[in-house]
Amino acid sequence: MDEKRVAVVTGASSGIGRAIAARFARQGVRVLATGRDGRRLADLAAESDQAPGAVRPFPGDVTTPGHARELLAAAAAEWEAASIFVACAGHGLPGTVLGSDPTRWERLIEVNVLAVLHQLRDAAAEFVRQAELDGGRRVRDIVVIGSTVGRQVSAANPVYGSTKFAVHSLVEALRQEVCAHNVRVTLIEPGFVRSGFQDAAGYDSAWFEAVAAESGPLLTPEDVASVVEFAVGRPTHVHLDDIRLRPTRQKV
Ligand SMILES: NC(=O)c1ccc[n+]([C@@H]2O[C@H](COP(=O)([O-])OP(=O)(O)OC[C@H]3O[C@@H](n4cnc5c(N)ncnc54)[C@H](OP(=O)(O)O)[C@@H]3O)[C@@H](O)[C@H]2O)c1
Repeated sequence: MDEKRVAVVTGASSGIGRAIAARFARQGVRVLATGRDGRRLADLAAESDQAPGAVRPFPGDVTTPGHARELLAAAAAEWEAASIFVACAGHGLPGTVLGSDPTRWERLIEVNVLAVLHQLRDAAAEFVRQAELDGGRRVRDIVVIGSTVGRQVSAANPVYGSTKFAVHSLVEALRQEVCAHNVRVTLIEPGFVRSGFQDAAGYDSAWFEAVAAESGPLLTPEDVASVVEFAVGRPTHVHLDDIRLRPTRQKV
């Protein structure tokens, strides 16, 4: 990876986003790390203190209007214009259409779809603007963390899955819109990852451990981060645009 790159990573206070931010910093990337929990972001920054890159905490909520633009401006003010934007912040929702809590639907869609759409629009607009300045000589990456349930219908988890289907379609459409500027828009679709995700959403722990017993070892956030690092490290003319990774023993 080009160690001079600057990245914005949302959802960096936990799990996959945290692993991506830490891994980038170890590769020399300067990372603006965001999430609502400033204390956990500060811990991440402290842990990355000796890394060749850097992690700067920038706490915030992805649903705040203008948040992605603020992140990009902060990264540019701290170092230089970002060339990587990772949209990782998100959460789950247990249950089926009939069985899930409808009072949580709006917030789920707000965080997992609307906020991602704003991140995509703001990052893409900025990256195209930069590409018009330098003729697209530098590659720029937008990476979105989708899910296997955004590719295959999950009867057990369809409401959360629908948010990942939405993201799947947005990423491919935006890829086609901006690829001529050497802006790569990449979808990463993990299967089961053991992270803060299960507790944050309130999935049943007995169910989750049964899944882990049947399909595990499950993926770790680090497994996903290593794939993200590989994708953004490809030469400018190579785009791994849609990558699905699952625990080897996960059937669906
Ligand atoms: N774990 C899995 O099995 C799995 C599988 C496929 C895809 N994914 C996807 O991977 C992404 C990361 O999940 P994870 O597994 O790493 O879960 P996690 O450990 O719970 O991390 C979720 C991250 O999202 C942030 N976040 C949530 N709501 C936010 C908001 N309103 N504003 C700002 N940040 C917010 C959290 O930060 P704060 O709480 O500090 O705000 C946290 O940093 C999600 O998009 C998830 O859908 C997960």
